[in-house]
Amino acid sequence: MISIAKPIIGEEEKQAVMEVLDSGVLAQGPRVAAFEAAFAEMIGVKHAIATSSGTTALHVALLASGIGAGDEVITTPFSFIASANSILYAGARPVFVDIDPKTFNIDPDRIKGAITKQTKAILPVHLFGLPADMDPIIALADTHGLVVIEDACQSHGAEYKGRRVGSFGIGCFSLYPTKNITSAEGGMITTDDAEVAEKCRAIRQHGMRRRYYHDELGFNFRMTDIHAAIGLAQLRKLDQFNQARIANAQYLSTHLRGVITPEVPAEHRHVFHQYTVRVANGRRDALLEHLKERGIGTGVYYPVPIHQQTFYTQELGYNLDLPEAECAAAEVVSLPVHPALSQNDLETIVAAVNGFAELHQS
Ligand SMILES: Cc1ncc(COP(=O)(O)O)c(C=O)c1O
Repeated sequence: MISIAKPIIGEEEKQAVMEVLDSGVLAQGPRVAAFEAAFAEMIGVKHAIATSSGTTALHVALLASGIGAGDEVITTPFSFIASANSILYAGARPVFVDIDPKTFNIDPDRIKGAITKQTKAILPVHLFGLPADMDPIIALADTHGLVVIEDACQSHGAEYKGRRVGSFGIGCFSLYPTKNITSAEGGMITTDDAEVAEKCRAIRQHGMRRRYYHDELGFNFRMTDIHAAIGLAQLRKLDQFNQARIANAQYLSTHLRGVITPEVPAEHRHVFHQYTVRVANGRRDALLEHLKERGIGTGVYYPVPIHQQTFYTQELGYNLDLPEAECAAAEVVSLPVHPALSQNDLETIVAAVNGFAELHQS
């Protein structure tokens, strides 16, 4: 079986965890601080704040931006549910704007029409490892005085016009095991704004700036030193992992037939958290079955766009037509692209997909 994702854990991570266990400092401590400093440097920002997950990173970033009840946040409907749920946790309302069918990311041309007096932020997602089109997003945010919170949970090391994602607004990363690097569970917030960073640190730790003095409502969203030790060891391998993902994607795009392969716009560095193709003519599910029978793991990210999820329609009353997101949800398949694939695995994937294309030539 060729799996869709595979965390790569070496001796470095194992040894680092053992050192933490031997140190006696298990919860948030010096490894978290070291991981934050190294992560900030990797992104090219002044501050990084570690959290317990990508979801809590988004939640904290929204709260630290002062977003709450009565506010609207513009985001994409084609993402993991946490992108929008974090807006709900903050008490605000997600406003969904349809995607660009070529990139799967929020379509900047449609954002302007969604801005109201209540809009406080734009939350683009750099989906599958491909940066969203940031220039027009930043221009709109500047014109309308909006905060930009980047959901970079799938895009560690991705670049837009030579700049790392997570450095345009407030960046939020996930360190879940399937991501380009992992800390088992974990998240990271990145920012150049010292005030935002200070607020994030307080909210992460029960609104506490001085021990047992609580200035505001916060949470326990801390990362442990055990997780940070894994994350630090992984961070050193990020470039190598991303290069392997990019090379695997290049091989697939060169050899696959009968599917629409991912487009990488000029001046975008796509780090291929997922390698996602489109299968037209209603044949997506048949391809999934075909690949399963041949021992190839696949994923459908995501089968239901967020505005059509039951909670959003039944409980929150969303009733939207967002045709590009809905079409993508019906057509996408993600194929294995992770760094542990061998040349033989890549050839097996290509042979299986191309075999399906030959069977269904029309
Ligand atoms: C786009 C996106 N946003 C947010 C998250 C949430 O991250 P986590 O699972 O670490 O809470 C994920 C991770 O799955 C994600 O892919």
